[in-house]
Amino acid sequence: KKTDNQMLVIFGASGDLTARKLIPSLFNLYLADQLPENFVILGVSRSDLTDEAFRDRVVYDSEYLKQKTKDLDDGRVKGFVDKLYYEDLGDSYDTDYAPLRKRVEALKEKHNTSGNIIYYLSTPPTLYETVSHNLSNAGMNTQNNGWKRLIVEKPFGYSLETAQELNKGLHKYFKEHQIYRIDHYLGKETVQNLLVTRFSNSIFEPLWNRNYIQHVEITNAESVGAEKRGGYYDKSGALRDMFQNHLLQLVSLVVMEPPIGADAEEIRNEKVKALKSLRLMTKDKELFENTIRAQYVASKVDGKAVKGYRDEEGVDSNSTTETYAAIKFYVDNWRWHGVPFYVRTAKRMPTKVTEIVIHFKKPHHQIFKGSEMQEMDNKLIIRIQPDEGILIKFGVKVPGQGFKVERANLDFYYASLAETYVMEAYERLLLDAMQGDATLYARADEVEAAWEFVDPILNYWNSGKDVRMYGYAAGAWGPENADGLIEGDGYWRNPSE
Ligand code: BG6
Repeated sequence: KKTDNQMLVIFGASGDLTARKLIPSLFNLYLADQLPENFVILGVSRSDLTDEAFRDRVVYDSEYLKQKTKDLDDGRVKGFVDKLYYEDLGDSYDTDYAPLRKRVEALKEKHNTSGNIIYYLSTPPTLYETVSHNLSNAGMNTQNNGWKRLIVEKPFGYSLETAQELNKGLHKYFKEHQIYRIDHYLGKETVQNLLVTRFSNSIFEPLWNRNYIQHVEITNAESVGAEKRGGYYDKSGALRDMFQNHLLQLVSLVVMEPPIGADAEEIRNEKVKALKSLRLMTKDKELFENTIRAQYVASKVDGKAVKGYRDEEGVDSNSTTETYAAIKFYVDNWRWHGVPFYVRTAKRMPTKVTEIVIHFKKPHHQIFKGSEMQEMDNKLIIRIQPDEGILIKFGVKVPGQGFKVERANLDFYYASLAETYVMEAYERLLLDAMQGDATLYARADEVEAAWEFVDPILNYWNSGKDVRMYGYAAGAWGPENADGLIEGDGYWRNPSE
């Protein structure tokens, strides 16, 4: 695909994401010759930095690039660094952007980047509308001399209402097709492969429905805790931080109907339909029975003492923010009627892993009897990370007399495609936006549909009603009470066990 000459303007350029993800991804794209010929990155924020200081900070000082640049000759590093500039906005993002516009114009002339610009908002979300408004005041959103695109980072709202307000706010200044809402899970190869697994093979899709699937299980576990993000996390929690966006994106890809084609609108239309078909839980009784929240408490992990969540820096000592969420729900449509979905996400688990497990129904008549048979249901495991791949579990006969059945695996690991360079999520997504492909970005109606499902759960949890907050030892697979949630369908698959 062709990538037009363009400029990338990053708001929030002195922040963590710029140093940790954006600049390293752009650098990798540069090394892979994927950047357009005429290309400039302009960092913008409130810190008082010169171009030089900005370059030193994001390229030479950054832990993330040091590893990468140490073996490279200076020419390659310099070639990239020369594309970096910085503009100080002064005290506030809410200011006159005329000086910024002048700088953009000057860089455009100097580097011949044409009028194509991506504005990347890596600021706190409260500033998204402010920045868009000021861009518009300065006439920087007009498309008559080149396209303009806006990339926004999560969170997209804090609830359905705030998400709608945010979308409305952005739509005052940018059209929906100009807005790219980044959900980095969609940039993961294995997540995209879900579409290919389902819709380019003839052996899975015929079974992908209520007739053959018993239940669907999705686990997202992280071994880290709140880390240095306690202040942010305590206002967010597992449901907002992971479930509303990344995990419901995975759900929508599992649930969706085949799109007519593989373009952005067709795929996203089907995803919205999928999200809209999730059965909303509104009654206290169903919310009580189908949702579990918990916090990690102090424990020892590998012999080392690990703090409890409430003792983490930036976290309220009486916090009621969940670090673990497990939700059971149903999908009200023809394909999925009656099939339960179990989705859980948590910090401070024994390992870092994300996987989707499709549990198939047992054969309706068992002819090989015996205790081993209990376990012999077929599973399709889509491993998102790490050890990216696909695993099928099926029964085989143990050699010898009788019909003893044992479970065998059919494995595919991405790592076996050794020659292929697998792009990091941010690299892939940035390049897509640069090329105007929004397929892997979330559309406004998708985000709102996801909030519609999550809102009643959050409201219930925050209602002050007698909703339990369970504890689980840091480094354990969540609270024991979560076992009860899935009981009717067996037990959680804890991947490293
Ligand atoms: C982010 C969350 O969106 O995703 C973090 O804010 C989380 O809390 C991260 O750690 C997980 O991403 P990944 O790619 O490491 O699974």
